[in-house]
Amino acid sequence: MQNDFLSAKKQLPFLGVGLGLRTELAESIFAETTAIDFLEIIPEQYMGKGGESRERLEKACSLYQAVSHGVNLSLGSTDELDWSYLRTLKQFVNDIRAPWFSDHVCFASLGQVYLHELLPVPFNRTTIEHMTRRIKQVKAYMELPFIIENTTYYMNVPGSAMSEAQFLSELLEQADCGLLLDINNVYVNCINHGLDPYGFLDQLPLERTVQIHMAGHKQSGDIVLDTHGSSIADPVYDLLRYALGKPGVKVHAISIERDQNQPAFTELKEELAAIKSIYKNATSAALSVKKAGA
Ligand SMILES: [Fe+2]
Repeated sequence: MQNDFLSAKKQLPFLGVGLGLRTELAESIFAETTAIDFLEIIPEQYMGKGGESRERLEKACSLYQAVSHGVNLSLGSTDELDWSYLRTLKQFVNDIRAPWFSDHVCFASLGQVYLHELLPVPFNRTTIEHMTRRIKQVKAYMELPFIIENTTYYMNVPGSAMSEAQFLSELLEQADCGLLLDINNVYVNCINHGLDPYGFLDQLPLERTVQIHMAGHKQSGDIVLDTHGSSIADPVYDLLRYALGKPGVKVHAISIERDQNQPAFTELKEELAAIKSIYKNATSAALSVKKAGA
């Protein structure tokens, strides 16, 4: 059945506003349990590791609800799915008691070599069919709600025959999975490719959004780069407000990704508070609309 995911989504918990667990931030994260609602953990940084990594993971999961955000599934690759990776990932999501797990709309390996990059795929129906088949295999094996994230692309990949928004929409519907909507990636791609980010959001099946990513970017000459290395820009907050205010959108979690130029933790706390306020306003506005129409 095509809409199983939307039924399953109704059972998912609401986690609030959280942060990606990064080694440099760990001490502050462990001390600031009132400012952070949940953690997003990159499984590749912890799977199969002992020592300090294991201790950090255990401490994180003792203090917070965690979700898993992978980078090596390589859904768009022509390589076979890596079943030993999936076996380890299944154990990991079980260990951290994640209510869902995510990875990216990209390829990250070629010829079984991991490239440590999230590389864009051609936006066309062949890719949709290919990725749909793989997402269905992953879902069946993992037995946990699966959400996929929109990524950045800085050139049009040869072979593309449709827009990114059309590609993502068809992929989400055909694979019947959830969306991890990276709002900063929407902004970066739309500015770089001359598109309207609001119109882009209008084209997506946003009712499938389980989680949102917020992050900073950097202008570099004519290009905007998705750096995760600066504070979140105002237009990205505006887009968040817009996405959350759209009818039928019920987002279960929002997290900040900060990977470089780590600021004083107070800056991240201010960003968490700003997002919480937008989230709270959008949720109460949605509730009042529901009441008025009830
Ligand atoms: Fe992201």
